[in-house]
Amino acid sequence: MLAPKTLANSPDDWWRHAVIYQIYPRSFADGNGDGVGDLRGIIDRLPAIADLGVDAVWLSPFYTSPQKDAGYDVADYCDVDPIFGSLHDAEELIATAHSLGLRVIVDVVPNHTSSEHPWFQAALASEQGSTERDRYIFREGRGDGGELPPNNWQSVFGGPAWTRLSGEDGTPGPWYLHLFDSSQPDLNWENPEVWEFFREVLKFWLDRGVDGFRVDVAHGLIKEEGLPDRVFVENPPLGDRGPHWDQERVHEVYRDWRTVLDSYGPDKMMCAEAWVLPLSRMARYVRSDEMNQAFNFGYLSTPWSAQALREVIDESLDAFGGVGAPSTWVLSNHDVVRHASRYGLSGPMASEPHGIGPDSPEKPDEELGLQVARAATTLMMALPGSAYIYQGEELGLPEVIDIPDESRDDPTFFRSQGERYGRDGCRVPLPWESDAPAYGFNSTGSSWLPQPARFAELARSEQDGVEGSTLELYKTLLTLRRESNLGSGSFEWLQGFDDDVIAFRNGSIGVIANLGSTEVDLPDGQILVVSGQHGDGSLPPNTTVWVKLAS
Ligand code: NOJ
Repeated sequence: MLAPKTLANSPDDWWRHAVIYQIYPRSFADGNGDGVGDLRGIIDRLPAIADLGVDAVWLSPFYTSPQKDAGYDVADYCDVDPIFGSLHDAEELIATAHSLGLRVIVDVVPNHTSSEHPWFQAALASEQGSTERDRYIFREGRGDGGELPPNNWQSVFGGPAWTRLSGEDGTPGPWYLHLFDSSQPDLNWENPEVWEFFREVLKFWLDRGVDGFRVDVAHGLIKEEGLPDRVFVENPPLGDRGPHWDQERVHEVYRDWRTVLDSYGPDKMMCAEAWVLPLSRMARYVRSDEMNQAFNFGYLSTPWSAQALREVIDESLDAFGGVGAPSTWVLSNHDVVRHASRYGLSGPMASEPHGIGPDSPEKPDEELGLQVARAATTLMMALPGSAYIYQGEELGLPEVIDIPDESRDDPTFFRSQGERYGRDGCRVPLPWESDAPAYGFNSTGSSWLPQPARFAELARSEQDGVEGSTLELYKTLLTLRRESNLGSGSFEWLQGFDDDVIAFRNGSIGVIANLGSTEVDLPDGQILVVSGQHGDGSLPPNTTVWVKLAS
């Protein structure tokens, strides 16, 4: 176990170089054995995360919620859902993390509430035009009898972004907007009461000691005036945003939030979940008076191609550096196919897999996927800036494909009538011990999504202390990264390598990734870590090495 660290206000902006581990509470560890992960489970397993060598944890939502979108449908922003525990548990979790030297980032979901939030319930019980309805986006429909949605916007999960109300006697009424599931009505950010409400939510959690926030759908809060139809064009240019994303005035919200966070000291941070491209546009969310970080989805979506990776690394360092912010680096999260499987896809699905299931046209090559994933992570951990790890990637977990339809939970699957499998495959509860019930996720064997038999060999207990395991690779990378200050280091491309080789230096460490199909020569210097096997003086395909450079 690592010795406890001090978490005093750090003069060097800890978030600029932090490695942040995402905990998805439903699937991390289950203290009460009901099959759904909880805060008690997290508290008990936190030492293992500190042991990995990360700087902070980000927790996906654990707030009161009917769980229609796995907690991203919040009914009470200032309490803990009983399936996860209590507010007291949340306070204990924050204190335990701090005592282990880990900072704590929590999720805030400002674009929409749950339809069970008291505000939405009050809106349903009130007249059109009332103060209660003005907190959301209600509109009359189009067509003679208002039978058509107010505009053509589509829900991210599939189907129209509008649902029509019907009165107690069945008389149809106005429609409300939901960019996600119909149980997630969009808030009206033109209403000052909404602004005031979220300031109080931020303060509530800051008062309990959190170190920052991950901001859900940060680019969605403000809609274009008049809610015009979206114009669809073939092959839209990057940055074609549509009237409900990335509107200019959304930045005013984060300037306001900055003042709230700053009133708690200099090192409280916010990270934007803003699916906005190009990265120069995303970087606007991290200007000095807004947020601190944005998830680099441009990097996450880049295929395993040397040319494409070189471009996105340059673009990232330019775009974020241009506004004085660090770049983040991320390969997996709870919304995308795990990178150990994504890199095992080669056909059309490789570019944007919306989940993989039993009937998908292509199944990942798992051996290749894991080999590339380890090489990709080894490359990523040497880049300057802040890096994210999604729970389970340190075990090399693959996407789980064989989930029966009746076990699926993601609204994407239901709203697309099963056309998109959605995100359940990356959310399967973690394997901690190979020979325990539910692989150590709990002590009862119950699990809200079925765990595959392969989890036995991938369990943490099978990898801890085992040379060459993915877990040990992550630990080594994080130790070296910390010792050499790579997160706040410098970046320079190394010349003289083939086109399908990525080669750069960060301080005195040289990083060589072989994305070609033949072995490449290693530069002189001591080998510090390698993502796979290496021959004498040469690096095989799909392998990355860190070398201590002679000069
Ligand atoms: C992004 C979250 O990461 C995702 O899980 C959620 O479904 C949507 N936002 C809606 O809140």
